[in-house]
Amino acid sequence: MRAVVITHAGGPEVLEAHEVEDPPQLGEGEVLIEVAAAGFNRADTLQRHGRHPPPADASPYPGLECSGTIEALGPNVPSRWSVGDKECALLSGGGYAEKVVVPAGQLLTLPEGISLTDASGLPEVACTVWSTVFMTSHLSSDESFLIHGGSSGIGTFAIQIAKHLGIKVFVTAGSEEKLAACKDLRADVCINYKAEHFLERVKQETHGKADDVIL
Ligand SMILES: NC(=O)c1ccc[n+]([C@@H]2O[C@H](COP(=O)([O-])OP(=O)(O)OC[C@H]3O[C@@H](n4cnc5c(N)ncnc54)[C@H](OP(=O)(O)O)[C@@H]3O)[C@@H](O)[C@H]2O)c1
Repeated sequence: MRAVVITHAGGPEVLEAHEVEDPPQLGEGEVLIEVAAAGFNRADTLQRHGRHPPPADASPYPGLECSGTIEALGPNVPSRWSVGDKECALLSGGGYAEKVVVPAGQLLTLPEGISLTDASGLPEVACTVWSTVFMTSHLSSDESFLIHGGSSGIGTFAIQIAKHLGIKVFVTAGSEEKLAACKDLRADVCINYKAEHFLERVKQETHGKADDVIL
């Protein structure tokens, strides 16, 4: 198969498409995906610079999420998954390749109306924001929510899911352009942390109460 290889630490120019070995044989509960698209995260950039080594048992190729079609099933994969299914997946690496092996527990059904390309950027941010903000911090619709780095990948997903659930959203970002992007996604209070002290503004907007959950 072909995969994107980090030839040495550096900028985007160190990425090269190479012919590499096919993925290993499928183990218990694993599936083989024919990759359609891969998401791009800051962690990929750090890995490319040699500052974010993948776990020892992960694929050597970058890519922490992808979308695609299931090409083969290993032993004991739950019956909800079949060859030919379109899905997206959270990966420990290897998304920048034609094929990748993933435990079935890291697959997500393709959301209705979402293209394979768009879905490839969902698993990392969706899993991170949902697990931290909703499963751990139990943010609810009568609470307010402060998102630092509102225009980041994580931030833009967090704004959209929180607004969908009717939550009042505060964001910080480092430029007016980034704040405008957050406003477009319906963030309620947009704070340029380089121009004003975010804490003072939050206190003012919440009448001294502060936000319930901070990301
Ligand atoms: N992407 C994921 O799926 C994922 C998963 C787990 C954890 N995380 C964590 O979530 C945070 C955001 O990740 P992301 O992938 O969404 O990031 P991103 O899209 O690359 O955005 C990062 C934002 O952080 C702000 N920032 C402040 N200081 C920075 C610096 N020195 N270098 C770069 N950015 C800086 C920038 O916004 P301002 O200019 O407005 O400050 C920038 O837009 C990171 O801490 C990351 O480790 C991300």
